[in-house]
Amino acid sequence: MGGRRTNLALLFLLALAFLTGWLAFAFFGWPSRLVLVVHALAGIGLLLLVPWKSLIARRALSRRRRPRVWWASLVLGVGLAISLAFGFLHSAGRWYVGGDLTAMEFHVGAAICILPFAVWHVLARPLRVRRAEVAALLTRRSFLRLGAFGAAAAGALLVLPQARRSPSGSYELGSFAPAEMPGTQWMFDSVPVVSGDAAVLSVGGRRVGYGELARFSDTVRCQLDCTGGWYATQDWEGVWLSRLLGPAPAWARSILVRSVTGYSRRFPVESLPALLLAVRAGSLPLDPAHGFPARLVAPGQRGFWWVKWVSSVEFDALPDWWQPPFPLQ
Ligand code: HEM
Ligand code: HEM
Repeated sequence: MGGRRTNLALLFLLALAFLTGWLAFAFFGWPSRLVLVVHALAGIGLLLLVPWKSLIARRALSRRRRPRVWWASLVLGVGLAISLAFGFLHSAGRWYVGGDLTAMEFHVGAAICILPFAVWHVLARPLRVRRAEVAALLTRRSFLRLGAFGAAAAGALLVLPQARRSPSGSYELGSFAPAEMPGTQWMFDSVPVVSGDAAVLSVGGRRVGYGELARFSDTVRCQLDCTGGWYATQDWEGVWLSRLLGPAPAWARSILVRSVTGYSRRFPVESLPALLLAVRAGSLPLDPAHGFPARLVAPGQRGFWWVKWVSSVEFDALPDWWQPPFPLQ
């Protein structure tokens, strides 16, 4: 394969892996699995291209006039290797690193770190695509080659060790034993110190004390599927949001749930009947890492929607899509 084609294929596969990774995080259950098959194929495709790319890299690095910031390309290569290694470790069953750290966190963390290096790598080496080349790519022969490449990636996926896990790729940990769930936080969020007696929640502008919340015992059994790579089923106990907030006024387009840390998520008003504000899991008060004094339970949504340490819940006139698809905090 020519150098330019190899680089173009790398670009396509990198973009595909990055995009499908985030899409898989946005979905719950089987839609997530479907996207992850494409994700895995893209990752294995990148690996299959290593022999061709190392030729390009070796040629460039052995020239007398080396590229000026060549080390940044090596950082890209090492970062990608780390991300791939942890992706495979996760899928093969070695998903738990220790403490609250999982292979998935290293996998995604490394992928995010190499993003600026990848953008720079491509922008600093403009790859002008000629029309004749695009025409050549659309021939029967290149489709056959693409098919063979895809089949090789699919074959590799079939022979790679894969552990049993949920459709989203997560492993079961701590079901009906809340204390065994890792205390995973999203990106830069950290566990705040909240005193139970003093905790006051703002519900539609009204102040509700923790003691008042704790008197409710509405219960839902559902799965918390963390993007850190694990899931757990619990009996979550607290109060239905619809009971606290009452019916949605005509002007309301979303429900805004905020945490004392500043973290927040917005839900469509139609989801009101499904949302529970939990104060207990398995009859025990939540521990600080899991959202004490109160956390949101959003059945059928990935963990980053389950706002912890809730400080306010209110109807809002802005639509639910008025937020970044993933929290930036
Ligand atoms: C998948 C991750 C990639 C890695 C690890 C990687 C790594 C490298 C390395 C180590 C070099 C040699 C040092 C240098 O020129 O800085 C290089 C050169 C180069 N890369 Fe990449 N690269 C990747 C993806 C891409 C992509 C997506 C493109 C373009 C779309 C690209 C285009 C180029 C070009 C044009 C060169 C210069 C070749 C030459 O001067 O002969 N690379 N790459
Ligand atoms: C540089 C970009 C990335 C590459 C090359 C890559 C590649 C891979 C590979 C090769 C696997 C193992 C697949 C298998 O053996 O079944 C994997 C797993 C996974 N990756 Fe990525 N990945 C990237 C970025 C991301 C990002 C940004 C996310 C999420 C935001 C993500 C989410 C996942 C998940 C959830 C799995 C587990 C899949 C499963 O258990 O079947 N990846 N990735």
